[in-house]
Amino acid sequence: QRAAMTQGALAKERREMKETQKRAAMDEDVPENLNQAWLDPMAAQDDRKLVADVRGQNVLAEDMPEWKKQSVGKAPQFGFAQKGSILEQRQSLPIFKLREELIKAVNENQILVVIGETGSGKTTQMTQYLAESGYTTKGRIGCTQPRRVAAMSVAKRVADEVGCLVGEEVGYAIRFEDCTSEDTVIKYMTDGMLLREALLDDKMSQYSVIMLDEAHERTIHTDVLFGLLKKCCAKRKDLRIIVTSATLDAEKFSTYFFECPIFTIPGRTFPVEVMYTKAPESDYLDAALITVMQIHLTEPEGDILLFLTGQEEIDTGCGILFERVKALGPSVPDLHILPVYSSLPSEMQTKIFEPAPPGSRKCVVATNIAEASLTIDGIYYVIDPGFAKQKVYNPKVGMDSLIVAPISQASARQRAGRAGRTGPGKCFRLYTEAAFKNEMLPTSVPEIQRTNLGMTCLTLKAMGINDLGPGGFDFMDPPPAQTLVTALEQLYNLNALDEEGLLTRLGRKMAEFPLEPPMSKMLIASVDLGCAEEILTIVAMLSAQNIFYRPKEKQGPADQKKAKFFQPEGDHLTLLTVYEAWKANNFSSPWCFENYLQARSLRRAQDVRKQLLTIMDRYRLEVTSAGRNFNRIRRAITSGFFFHAAKKDPQEGFKTLVENTPTYIHPSSSLFQRQPDWVVYHELVLTSKEYMRECVAIDPKWLVELAPRFFKQADARIMSKRKRMEKLEPLFDRFNEKDAWRLSKRRG
Ligand code: CDP
Ligand code: MG
Repeated sequence: QRAAMTQGALAKERREMKETQKRAAMDEDVPENLNQAWLDPMAAQDDRKLVADVRGQNVLAEDMPEWKKQSVGKAPQFGFAQKGSILEQRQSLPIFKLREELIKAVNENQILVVIGETGSGKTTQMTQYLAESGYTTKGRIGCTQPRRVAAMSVAKRVADEVGCLVGEEVGYAIRFEDCTSEDTVIKYMTDGMLLREALLDDKMSQYSVIMLDEAHERTIHTDVLFGLLKKCCAKRKDLRIIVTSATLDAEKFSTYFFECPIFTIPGRTFPVEVMYTKAPESDYLDAALITVMQIHLTEPEGDILLFLTGQEEIDTGCGILFERVKALGPSVPDLHILPVYSSLPSEMQTKIFEPAPPGSRKCVVATNIAEASLTIDGIYYVIDPGFAKQKVYNPKVGMDSLIVAPISQASARQRAGRAGRTGPGKCFRLYTEAAFKNEMLPTSVPEIQRTNLGMTCLTLKAMGINDLGPGGFDFMDPPPAQTLVTALEQLYNLNALDEEGLLTRLGRKMAEFPLEPPMSKMLIASVDLGCAEEILTIVAMLSAQNIFYRPKEKQGPADQKKAKFFQPEGDHLTLLTVYEAWKANNFSSPWCFENYLQARSLRRAQDVRKQLLTIMDRYRLEVTSAGRNFNRIRRAITSGFFFHAAKKDPQEGFKTLVENTPTYIHPSSSLFQRQPDWVVYHELVLTSKEYMRECVAIDPKWLVELAPRFFKQADARIMSKRKRMEKLEPLFDRFNEKDAWRLSKRRG
């Protein structure tokens, strides 16, 4: 089996070359070879030097902050140079000695919980061991990851170990990107993807083994998969389930999964000295950067890992660090600053695994992703400010938002552990010991208990699982009743559920799309409104995000270019116009560049669009164009996003219809000057104020017409003066009449 999977390095090289040529012919825009990836091929067509920066945006070399040039300029030396030692590396992992025992345990138990330190080889090795012992003759080996980056980077690593290209024997699938083929026997994917597959096939027939990796992260998808796979096991006695976890949730997992055995991989860890601050830090970013410099200047050799909360913070932090090191002059050793976050392009991801050159030190600045999903060798120092971004349901807005929140004690321990993989390490916690003990939760609240369940409910209903309440679906930790009710209400108001809470035909179609319910509703509504061609583009553009490029030093020219695309009806139509203009210019990258647009994001939108179109075709949903009839397009948007209607406030700004939240049109919107009376927004972002991002002007009549379950024309006889002016109010919720909480809130 092993021999069949392993290919000679030479053969591989030949195939890689062939593949490169093939793809180069297909799409000149896509950099193939790792070493070329740092220079965009477009550079040749433009006098000015274009570089693919770490965010995946094409920027001018002169526009790029210097710390980024540092990390971009050096081509990674990863790949063939290390190939010779890959087998040795594999054999030195703690899991290797347990190979036979592990296989035996899987053979003998339908479900197995596996625990082991991060980096012991669970993710990369177990799939290969199982493949080598014949499990691929009965089906694929699937392995889920909570994060996209982890799925891609792990697939790359395992493909390297196996000696194939990603997409051959080893592949991955993430939303809107399927990098697998008929040959694929080891498939890494996001847990969300496996959940989508379960919708089509609840027996999981293509798999012989499913590994739910990083189960302790307790994403909503993993939690739902728990229940589904538990059911599936009864139907398929040959299916094997492995649940892996890095922390101490093992007992709980085992209890839930019919008291299954727990397989422990002894760790290879060194002691980590944990240090706390004496007093709470008022500015954790500043404190963190000072700590990096202190370590760099005073501590012995060893790399640093700093946890920050998101891309912007990481970019800012990296910039400041670079300046500080530079200011110290040549007498100080080099500090290689490497940002890591989920939107990082794959070329850059490989870079974080490279060792720093002798005499220098590496400083990885990462989001939570480096807590358990990615293992970086050589880290001796960990700096933990104690925060991470968390998705939480915001009832004020009726949707999830990301907020910066304190981490749990379990996370803090996990972070500290990262310092003890190569030798004895140190962890600098930027909070007090009292805060750790008294203020942090022992473990994080599972996502299912704190986020919007709209899409999850829709998926479960589409699988025929109707009873989601207590005694219904077997959740490991059930979601709060109120969250479920809100989600069901949302689906009812979208016409996805009927009065009895059963899926409607519309709801069934909506479930086919990997989109949040309002988005899929807007897409399906566009079919009847005869504007699917345009709505497809708009959905794709909204999903791709970061379309416009606005560098700090060139905000003026960037804004001018953007304004040329502005449509008076709203931002959705501006996005549509941008895409169509790009298409009219043959999807050209230099054109994007001239117009301050992110070519990479547009290409992503193009990809997403193609995928959605495939689903539309599969279900014979007609895709027609409305031409310049923007009204139809605006109505389609309204039929999905009527929850997000806002009305101009006589005093200032806008008020949302649902909760009366004061909000404003974002200054970057094409409607900022015009300030129409009624709008529907795509999302709210809280910066200095609560801003509406991507707004479209609407006619309030459409609300009643398109969402009759949600809005009604207010009764003129009993209306207050203010109400009479508004003429519209959210309807009392028939779906949940007994729900006084909701009622009083709406009336209040
Ligand atoms: O899943 P677990 O945390 O147990 O470990 P793993 O992800 O399978 O990683 C095992 C080893 O593979 C790590 O110690 C890394 O040295 C190596 N690895 C790598 O070099 N590059 C990757 N993209 C992933 C893992
Ligand atoms: Mg792992």
